[in-house]
Amino acid sequence: MKTQSLSSCKLDFKTLRAGPFVLVLFGGTGELSLNKLLPALFKLFSEKLLKNFSILSLGRRPFSLENYQTFVKKSIQKNLPGKINADTLQNFLKKIHYQIFNIKNEIDYGILCRSIQKLSQKDETENVIYYLAISPSLYFEVIAYLSKNKLCKEKPHTKIVVEKPFGHDEKSAKQLNQILLSAFDEHQIYRIDHYLGKETVQNILFFRFANSIFEPLWNRNYIDHIQITVSETIGIQNRGAFYEEAGVIRDMVQNHILQVIAMITMEAPVGFESNLVRDEKVKIFEAIRPMDSRYIQKNIIVAQYDKGKIARKNIKAYRDEENVAKNSVTPTYFEGTFYIDNWRWADVPIHVKTGKRLAKRSTQIVIDFKMPPLKLLKDACSFLEPNTLIITIQPEEEIALAFCVKYPGPENRPYPVHMRFNYQEAFKIKTFSAYERLILDCIKSDASLFARQDEIELMWRIVDPITRYLERKPHREILLYSAGSEGV
Ligand code: BG6
Repeated sequence: MKTQSLSSCKLDFKTLRAGPFVLVLFGGTGELSLNKLLPALFKLFSEKLLKNFSILSLGRRPFSLENYQTFVKKSIQKNLPGKINADTLQNFLKKIHYQIFNIKNEIDYGILCRSIQKLSQKDETENVIYYLAISPSLYFEVIAYLSKNKLCKEKPHTKIVVEKPFGHDEKSAKQLNQILLSAFDEHQIYRIDHYLGKETVQNILFFRFANSIFEPLWNRNYIDHIQITVSETIGIQNRGAFYEEAGVIRDMVQNHILQVIAMITMEAPVGFESNLVRDEKVKIFEAIRPMDSRYIQKNIIVAQYDKGKIARKNIKAYRDEENVAKNSVTPTYFEGTFYIDNWRWADVPIHVKTGKRLAKRSTQIVIDFKMPPLKLLKDACSFLEPNTLIITIQPEEEIALAFCVKYPGPENRPYPVHMRFNYQEAFKIKTFSAYERLILDCIKSDASLFARQDEIELMWRIVDPITRYLERKPHREILLYSAGSEGV
């Protein structure tokens, strides 16, 4: 597939470069920082997109600076495929500082204040970013102490990045927002959902609104159903305490999956400015059919992974993971059907399946179109398959259209084939990872790809009945599926 025409409006790479900043990483020794954030920052650094900056990691573990830097080095090497330039890595590590920090101890915030002052002077920056890569139950305390110690609005470009899940339900999301707004102004707050930073998730909107051939078909008249699958082979990755509080619904459905549903189903915005896109997403969240107990019983299944094998490796059961209760009923798997009660989507089922420790890693949206109105090929030897549009987000970024052709030969045989577009093959470049893109946007004060508060509250309103129903159930049991299987 040719792509030359897309190169017509080239951006100067230099315009992407971010100015000086100090990034304060709460949870600097946690999984998110080590596996995602620090490798993303290193990638941006090695592509020369970061200028004059310092990273101040905060953690409880008593690391010396040298030990911490070695720890970071190993995690960058583990998480980034390919050869890493040793000098570049060494120069990056020099930008990293470490402070032993107890979130609940106010004195540590005084020390933090002085460290930020020193680093800001060195980097000649007023851009200070607090990144909360910690358990959501600690957000309140951190924000309160930052505010009390005047660490929020002192500099003109102070920002705070809050990871999902934003709150535990609609009520706590509102409370969290209130406390954030008592300390920061709205324009300083970045509510991150890394799925919005994924190139292929953004491409959903381009695909829909930069082409004229699909949009007329994009409704209940032509689409039979939509299937969204986010299947992971990884487990909870040393995040037992977090996952026990969250479970799959708060970890994946309330945020990533609902955002993907909105991108697929929203109306065309009147422009691509962030608020116009968010306004359209909000209308979808408002139209998703509310769920009562009967609906949940009929349409939702949750389960938890038991021991099993993935790629011939023995995998332990969720209940045997560290910091997980032996009788835990936290779900790691979700299957459910959503309906959007608006004119365009009335009665089109949107099936969702997501889970950890499944057979393969794949994030895919499949749009199944309706069958042709008549079975003209009734003498055909094979079953006629519907047209499907398959948008693959992971592991390969790809869009494929499945349609039927005649199989060569004397018989009347319809044969399904795929027309494929693959990002990597077409552009031969590796795009920014979601975290690279979002960190860069945040440094440059562009909030377009971050979630807005009203979206978040509405997404909670959709899933709260499900979590309430499951957590209220008197019998504390859950279906199990074997690790490495397709789920239940
Ligand atoms: C995170 C969840 O937000 O997304 C993880 O907390 C999950 O549990 C991850 O594994 C999935 O992200 P990705 O980009 O690998 O699909």
